[in-house]
Amino acid sequence: MNDLLCLGVETSCDETAAAVLRQDGRLLGSVVASQIDLHEAFGGVVPEVAARRHLERIGPVVQEALAEAGSRYRDLGLVAVTRGPGLAGALMVGLSWAKAFAFARDLPLVGVNHVVAHAHAAYLEAEPAYPDLALVASGGHTDLLLLEGPTKVQVLGRSRDDAAGEAFDKVARTLGLGYPGGPAIESLAREGDPAKAPLPRVGMFPGSLDFSFSGLKTAAQSLRRQGLAAADIAAAFQAAVFDQLWVRASLALRQTGCRRLIFSGGVSANGYLRQRFAHALAREGLGLLVPPMRHTTDNAAMIARLGLSMYEAGHRSPWDMGAEPVIHPFKP
Ligand code: KG4
Ligand code: ZN
Repeated sequence: MNDLLCLGVETSCDETAAAVLRQDGRLLGSVVASQIDLHEAFGGVVPEVAARRHLERIGPVVQEALAEAGSRYRDLGLVAVTRGPGLAGALMVGLSWAKAFAFARDLPLVGVNHVVAHAHAAYLEAEPAYPDLALVASGGHTDLLLLEGPTKVQVLGRSRDDAAGEAFDKVARTLGLGYPGGPAIESLAREGDPAKAPLPRVGMFPGSLDFSFSGLKTAAQSLRRQGLAAADIAAAFQAAVFDQLWVRASLALRQTGCRRLIFSGGVSANGYLRQRFAHALAREGLGLLVPPMRHTTDNAAMIARLGLSMYEAGHRSPWDMGAEPVIHPFKP
């Protein structure tokens, strides 16, 4: 047994993605069709344009993932789909497609939380060890999550303003770099000296593990206006982002007694941040668990991973499940 095949579907933002994951944990196929070219000219994702492109791409992307897996439609035993958070129109495309497909083929359907799925991307190559502490840093979210099970998640801290990835994108725009800003800042920062661009450190909110990134973005903009070199600002910005993430994550590790940190979401693709986390954690005898690089940014393998775990825990979603652009209070 353990040969059930789960189709994962993801359309919450600007990637149309599908994946086929076998119940024994083997990822058979994972396809991500990026829309970056489409949104580049606007300097960010245009929701209506994203939804229309998802509609064109969803069918072919699923077919591609099945071809990569060497599977046919009739081999599938479960459909997992992102139900939120994300852009309403974009979510609706994937959700409607998944519902129609599952209904027509008489397959069980599981709707999953995109942010919780980012954390579960780490379980594509490692076993869960609930309770696990996860720091999900993406374009839309910066959340410290205590994962107690696939559907039991506590939010220990979250950003009160911009998400970390959003700050990367906005600072990149200030520095005249393209979209998405994360990779551009990472490569420019390699030529910079963080000591030459003093950025403020963001203090803790009393009694809370919440984050704040908008002040950092404003400070970077003002350094740029003062004529400081873009590479130095990029390097200083990355260092300041790390410091803020680390202060909160290390405190959460101490408070929860967890022995390792899952670092996931688009921002965890950043090599500098990964390295700083690895060193800082190793110094305290703790471990770092990151998803495979290609599954740090939006993908459907993580949706299938969480969907399968939820299915195994007995979870099934009703046919009238709706898209939830903002899932609050936090629900897996
Ligand atoms: O997880 P993701 O693909 O989508 C959301 O759910 O938001 O994350 C996208 C975010 C963007 O803000 C992008 O700039 C950031 O992840 N990102 C990075 C890197 N690669 C992508 N940030 C820092 N360094 C990177 N190398
Ligand atoms: Zn995401």
